[in-house]
This record gives sequence, C-alpha cells and structure tokens, in this order.
Amino acid sequence: MMRRHRLKAPAGVVADYFRLFVNRRAYTLQSDRPHPESGRHYYFRPTDKKTGQGLSLTLDTIRRHIEGEITIALYAINPENQRCKWVAIDADYKNALPDLIKLGYYLKQDGVESALEKSHRGGHLWVLMAEPLPARDCRIYVYDLASRLGLPVKGAGLPEGIEVFPKHDELKPGDRKVAEIEGLFIAVFNVGGQFYAIEDVCTHDDGPVAEGDLDGYEIECPRHGARFSVKTGEVLAPPAYEDVATFEVRVEGGVVQVRAGARPPEG
Ligand code: FES
Repeated sequence: MMRRHRLKAPAGVVADYFRLFVNRRAYTLQSDRPHPESGRHYYFRPTDKKTGQGLSLTLDTIRRHIEGEITIALYAINPENQRCKWVAIDADYKNALPDLIKLGYYLKQDGVESALEKSHRGGHLWVLMAEPLPARDCRIYVYDLASRLGLPVKGAGLPEGIEVFPKHDELKPGDRKVAEIEGLFIAVFNVGGQFYAIEDVCTHDDGPVAEGDLDGYEIECPRHGARFSVKTGEVLAPPAYEDVATFEVRVEGGVVQVRAGARPPEG
C-alpha cells in the first residue's frame, strides 16, 4: 500500500506566513465535502460549537493549511482600516511576462521590491509590505505606474491586461454582503444606490437574514419567512416580533464603512 507523505511546515515558515499575510484573525475554511446541489466545494466561517463565535486564526491552523491538511482563505483587507499587507499584480494574457518584468523594474526604481511568480501565460508580481497600507492607494499607485509605462490595464476599456489585488468587492444595487466586524455578523445592502446595514441574525431564531430574498427595502428570512426593513431594522412580518439591529454606514473614497456598535439616529 502506498503511503502518502506530507511535507512538514517548520515553525519559522508558519510564523513568516502569519507575519506576511494575516491581516485579521477571521478566516474561512473550505468544506470537506462538495455542496449537495452545486457539487462544488464552498468556504464557510468556522465557529465555536459552544459559543457560536467565529473561530480565530491560530498558528496551528496556518500550519495545517500549509501542510495541505485543510484549505483556508484569509481576508486580504482589514475592514477596520481598509489596509492590506500585500499587493499581487496579476497578468494573464499572451506575452504578459515582459510587461511584468518591466513593471518590476520600474517599481524597483521607486524603491519597491517585488517578487515574480510565473504562471501558465504570464505571472504575478508580489509586493510584501513592511507595514499595512491602504489597499485603494496601492491599487491606484500600480495602475498609474502601469498606464505611464503604456501597459494594458484590465477593465479600463480592455478585456485583457494587468489586474491588481486585493480589490474591494463592489456592492451593486440589489446586492448584499455579510462581514464580521467586532464579533458581529453585519449585512450591508445596496438598495437603489443607498447603503444600509443590519445585524445578520434573525430575531426569531437566529437565522441568516441576509441570505433571504430582498424586495425593495424588505428582506425575508430564509428560515421561516419573517420580514424586516433593511432601512430601519423594523420587523414587518412574523414569526419574528422584534426588530433587528441596524448600523451606521458611510461611503468614503468608494469604500463602504460600517460602524459597529453605533445605531443610526431614529427617524
Ligand atoms: S429564524 Fe428567521 S424567521 Fe425564523
């Protein structure tokens, strides 16, 4: 019988991984088994069975990830300050490699060291920061440098070109997104270009409200059909009888910010 050997991750590698890539302790874990309907593996937020609180990333979890025992996903941007610890410039098009080499050369002229990782058609340039920097500023800087060098930028009217990560998720009208902030699961909704945030916990039986259908300002809990206003948190239909908490949202520099612990003024 063939034995499968797994490489061990030395403690120094695990510590370096943590230092270079971990921005916050929240993480998601890939499912062991595929989803019964889609047949695809999915990521979920692991929780403590007793308290229901999201698990915090440990060095041991990172070790298991590096050794291939589990697969985790990290949040690239810290939601509290919108900063990231790394930038990856992705180029996946024909003859992308010379563009990345050129970009790497000019980054170095600016005092920015990068590491080139080759891929099938192009590669990635990795920049690991000495300290976390605002993700948006990093992207603007790289895109600006790329345009000055005449390199193609994906999305700027071009189907192919370089892309800079981490990106902020766009929340389009009708979309919603759940984030964990200060230990609370908060759902942010874009309704007609306005942003609203409620706690993603149904007051009937803790259901994940944000996974339900959104109709205008009304969200229906997918578990037993209670309805709430995402604008005011007001309960609109049983079996829930209590309102859900709402939070203050503001948009700054194209980034949606939610202030946990602060309800917006009444009215
Ligand atoms: S948990 Fe939401 S309606 Fe029951």
